[in-house]
Amino acid sequence: MKQRILIVNSGGDCPGMNAVIRAIVKRASRELDWEIIGSINGFDGFLAEPLEIMPLTKDIVEGIHIYGGTILTTNNKRNPFCYPVKQEDGTILNEDVSDKLIYNLKVFGFDAIIHIGGNESHKISLKLAQKGVNIIGIPKTINNDLASTDYSFGFQTAAQVATEAVDKLVTTASSHNRVLILEVMGRDAGWIALHAAVAGGADVCLIPEIPFSMDKVIKKLKSRYSADGRGFANIVVAEGAHFKDKKGASISGNIASKITAALKEINFEADIRETILGHLQRGGTPNAFDRILATELGVKAFELVKEKKFGTMAIHKNSELTHINLTEVIDKYNKVNLSHNLIHTAKGIGISFGD
Ligand code: F6P
Repeated sequence: MKQRILIVNSGGDCPGMNAVIRAIVKRASRELDWEIIGSINGFDGFLAEPLEIMPLTKDIVEGIHIYGGTILTTNNKRNPFCYPVKQEDGTILNEDVSDKLIYNLKVFGFDAIIHIGGNESHKISLKLAQKGVNIIGIPKTINNDLASTDYSFGFQTAAQVATEAVDKLVTTASSHNRVLILEVMGRDAGWIALHAAVAGGADVCLIPEIPFSMDKVIKKLKSRYSADGRGFANIVVAEGAHFKDKKGASISGNIASKITAALKEINFEADIRETILGHLQRGGTPNAFDRILATELGVKAFELVKEKKFGTMAIHKNSELTHINLTEVIDKYNKVNLSHNLIHTAKGIGISFGD
């Protein structure tokens, strides 16, 4: 009897998703009688009538590991437990359609789901596992904010893109004696900002884990414009970073422009320009590190299905490929620990965190 696996990827796309899909298919093809099918656009495809699915053969996945994004497309707003359903009167109501999903798995003869996603996605994985679905998770996020695994694929590529942006901004900042602010992604974690600031040679790195003071940032910037300063400065700020204004109100969101406004408020001596790196961090070819990690996790996830270790997630921990219970994954964030050696190193080369 053919055994059939459904691959679902959900949440934001990230470099490496195609490499995971390819790894699962190539590993399965080394076994007899395994069929791998992809659900289009997250869970949408497997809840559609008729199903929107894609048979994933070796030919179809040949060479896709070098491409960014995902051939299955993805969706970070579709949750089978709270799914938009059109009512007879034309209104849309969110309903729990997980039973329909489970019914489709049975009717179409699926033995397991491999679900590629971030924290929110694996909350769905856990709830499906608790409803008896054979499911294996694979961690994915450019934010690197999943505590259960050493690294999430996509992060190193995003950090590289951000580092190259700092490199470029350093040259134009020095040419114009300007303060250039680069805002990077990361949601509530500062990993991308921290890596790009150290690798790119920024002067200020602002991350969510260290609430900053504008006075401390200004002090650092002023030192860059003092007699023995270089006369320009580069700031890398994570999108989730925040500070307290003079009235003590917490300032966050569109943080690069809020920093510019605070500098303009005191008539800071230099020109200021902002760059929001945005989805450039999510797209494009994965680097070698992410291709390897994604491929390892894809192979591991297939083997966890074969070993029937359902309700778990394939992870890379202490440089070992292993698995962890989904119950230990949810809402466990990998924030930048203030005693992390990279914070120590950054401060050691004079990078200010505005603290
Ligand atoms: O979680 C990945 C991420 O890229 C975050 O870094 C960012 O905050 C968010 O997703 C952006 O989401 P969207 O693609 O929906 O704008």
